[in-house]
Amino acid sequence: MSARSSLTIVLAAGEGTRMQSSVPKVLHAVAGQSLLAHVLGAAPNGADASLAVVIGPDHRAVADEARRIRPDAASFIQRERLGTAHAVLAAREAIVRGADDLLVVFGDTPLISAETFARLRAPLRSGAALAVLGFRAADPTGYGRLLVEGDRLVEIREHADATPAQRATKLCNAGVMAFDGRKALRIIDAIGNANSKGEYYLTDAVGVVRDLGWEAVVIETSEDEVRGINTKTQLAEAEAVMQARLRKAALEAGVTLIAPETVYLAADTSFGKDVTIEPFVVIGPGVAIADGAVIHSFSHIVQASIGRHASVGPYARLRPGTSLGDGARIGNFVEVKAATLEAGVKVNHLSYIGDAHVGANSNIGAGTITCNYDGFSKHRTTIGEGAFVGTNSSLVAPVKIGNGAYIGSGSVITKDVPDDAMAVERSPQANREGGAKRYRELKTREKSPKGS
Ligand code: UD1
Ligand code: MG
Repeated sequence: MSARSSLTIVLAAGEGTRMQSSVPKVLHAVAGQSLLAHVLGAAPNGADASLAVVIGPDHRAVADEARRIRPDAASFIQRERLGTAHAVLAAREAIVRGADDLLVVFGDTPLISAETFARLRAPLRSGAALAVLGFRAADPTGYGRLLVEGDRLVEIREHADATPAQRATKLCNAGVMAFDGRKALRIIDAIGNANSKGEYYLTDAVGVVRDLGWEAVVIETSEDEVRGINTKTQLAEAEAVMQARLRKAALEAGVTLIAPETVYLAADTSFGKDVTIEPFVVIGPGVAIADGAVIHSFSHIVQASIGRHASVGPYARLRPGTSLGDGARIGNFVEVKAATLEAGVKVNHLSYIGDAHVGANSNIGAGTITCNYDGFSKHRTTIGEGAFVGTNSSLVAPVKIGNGAYIGSGSVITKDVPDDAMAVERSPQANREGGAKRYRELKTREKSPKGS
């Protein structure tokens, strides 16, 4: 197959008021990624693909998100919300530049896949002017109905404008369309606004194509893939569909999920071979887990890379910027942030390691805290290789602990410790011979009833 060039226009100028949120609709997240990021991730990519996003006025954040995901994305502002065809024409400048295929997709359908875009584009190769993505809706209320004659699509009727007989059809418009790029502008420019809402409906492209004697076809997909999100309930439903997909993909890739339905993954989570994830683990965006690693129950992990055969949790929290080397062990109630722990490091209990570098095979005792924040700025802690930090030590940053150094338990370390030195910072211990016995006797006398 020769590569056809494509332009994808993502319509994201929706107001999203039904989300009851001040955040633009397409910036809400599913599986740790914005709705827009999901759509952009599925849209055609590569040297032959260009991208335009149509946004509402005051939606700079949407344009920024588009560029974060796809630096080549161009943004266009639709100043008045006059309908989906009007929104597409906000990107006229991009359309005029010309592409073999013009794809239009709504920014609020995060479950759409790259394969579906490919299937939708296929009929354009064999001469169709327009391919529309359709689905059989369990409840078609509100959707545009696809009216077909034989294998030809002849019209899309919006619910509001449909007759009762037309409303009876369950084949609905998903909102994704692929136009022959050479014909697209002629089609979309011909769309009028003579309907009950007085809007320029992109769906009227089908009637225009028919009137011009060209061909429009339907490509069907599942309802799950084209759920549009308008409310927080629909957002949660999409999350459930996406989580089910991610868990299945992880299982098929060989990850052991003991109770898959209790594990939350992000769309970009990556796994090596023979990874095990115990029940009740939450994985946010930007996490890579290498071969043989085990994530124990109740751990929460965001933007972290976990080395081969590392062990995390139970009850561990890995925050952004955590990097664990091969065989590292992070135990219960340990929090790590912006820290690299090289191979074989152990932090097994009740610690906070932040803004730090810990050399290979060092052992960080229970209750060790890197005191990285002085109330104004953050400071770094550097621990060498093979160091031993005794339990309940406070390492007051900025501070360096040398290779092979040893910190006595309970120390508050404020000065650098040289390689192989032993640092002990605590008051001398006083043992009073018989002191406990005398104390007990005194207290017993005080408590005894008078005269006994
Ligand atoms: C649209 C389709 C309908 C389809 C349904 C699928 C039209 C006329 N109708 O209806 O056939 O079954 O989606 O979910 O296309 N938008 C803009 N600017 C506008 C208007 C809309 O950017 O002026 C964007 C919205 O942000 C949204 C998308 O276009 O992402 C669809 O608009 P919406 O109002 O949700 O259309 P529906 O009534 O759902
Ligand atoms: Mg809609």
